[in-house]
Amino acid sequence: MKDRTRVIHQPDIEMPPDNRPLVAPIYQSVKFEMDRIEESLRALRGERPGFFYTRTSNPTNRQLEELLAGLQGREDCIVSGSGVAAVSSCLLSLCKAGDHILCFVETYGPSRYFIRRMLGRFGVEHTLLSIEDDEGIERALRERPTRLVFFESPTNPVTKVADIARICGAARAAGALTVMDNTFAGFHNHGQFDVDLFVHSLTKYASGHGDVMGGAIIGARELVQSMRQDTSTLGPVLDPHAAFLVLRGMKTYFLRYEAQSAAALQVAAWLEAHPAVALVRHPGLPGHPRHALARRQMHDFGTVVTFDLEGSMEDARIFVEALELFAITASLGSVESLVMPPHFMQPRDFTPEQVSVSGLTPTTVRLSIGAEDPDDLIADLDQALAKVAA
Ligand SMILES: Cc1ncc(COP(=O)(O)O)c(C=O)c1O
Repeated sequence: MKDRTRVIHQPDIEMPPDNRPLVAPIYQSVKFEMDRIEESLRALRGERPGFFYTRTSNPTNRQLEELLAGLQGREDCIVSGSGVAAVSSCLLSLCKAGDHILCFVETYGPSRYFIRRMLGRFGVEHTLLSIEDDEGIERALRERPTRLVFFESPTNPVTKVADIARICGAARAAGALTVMDNTFAGFHNHGQFDVDLFVHSLTKYASGHGDVMGGAIIGARELVQSMRQDTSTLGPVLDPHAAFLVLRGMKTYFLRYEAQSAAALQVAAWLEAHPAVALVRHPGLPGHPRHALARRQMHDFGTVVTFDLEGSMEDARIFVEALELFAITASLGSVESLVMPPHFMQPRDFTPEQVSVSGLTPTTVRLSIGAEDPDDLIADLDQALAKVAA
């Protein structure tokens, strides 16, 4: 073999069968070959195990898919390059022109945009209610044939809690599917409910370190399999290196989620007692309007603490810019604490009535509590609140 060929056809290193790496390798290959065409064709038809092209399947991505499906208590999973890719490819795969989607004012902004503006362009209609309007949800499902209900709990950013059993029961009775964005609650929550499909942003708690993006669709094997060709053709593939980083993050998922949730509850309780804070929203607080429901539905309550400051939007700016341990940026679920000021969260596509349902005010601040010592975070919040008072 000449050197120009040798650099392309590199040596294979075979592992002895009794010798394995403790950390699974990253299959950073787009293509997978077999010696016989018929065997590749059989693998593509699903008649035997095997891989062919990473946009369709890849062993590292598959490892992540099986892990996440098992954690969420379902059979199968499709991973994607971001959380919104999971949402958009899932909804595109399930809907056609003329279908109706029931979704909510409190739904995460880009998901709402996708349903209202983008699916709307292709003739998919929607109704927008409040996630707490249980009677309205049941009425809408009785009155109008509906393809699916798309909802979150707790909602981003004001942590409203959905009555999941009631929504799933009403949807099942009406022949509608349920798709739940379970990003805030995580993979270990809500699996006991009759939800057809869970979607997640892996960018948050799964990766945990703010250095990789990803998404997942999780559900029963038959339903997920029926979507696989559509999602692979849309092409929002997760790179195997990103899948490896998410797999690594998942090893500390419970340690992080549990510790950061406990810290979030401590911070929420401290904020609630502060005179400069008008209202704190966290499902773990006994004063949360649906705390009892959240307690029945969830093991723990997540790391997002949202609150309204006394004062004006300018006071909120002074407070947020005075924080030293919280980065002023998007996202949540990282080991670093983050803060979203009201300036980035004002809804632009709402009627005045929907603004009031959204719970967002000109002083609403969202915190994502990281893995720092909660005493340090509270001291930082205290000094920043004192700057507003001054
Ligand atoms: C509830 C929820 N769903 C979906 C997403 C989108 O995820 P990604 O940023 O990974 O696309 C986010 C991001 O903040 C989110 O909070």
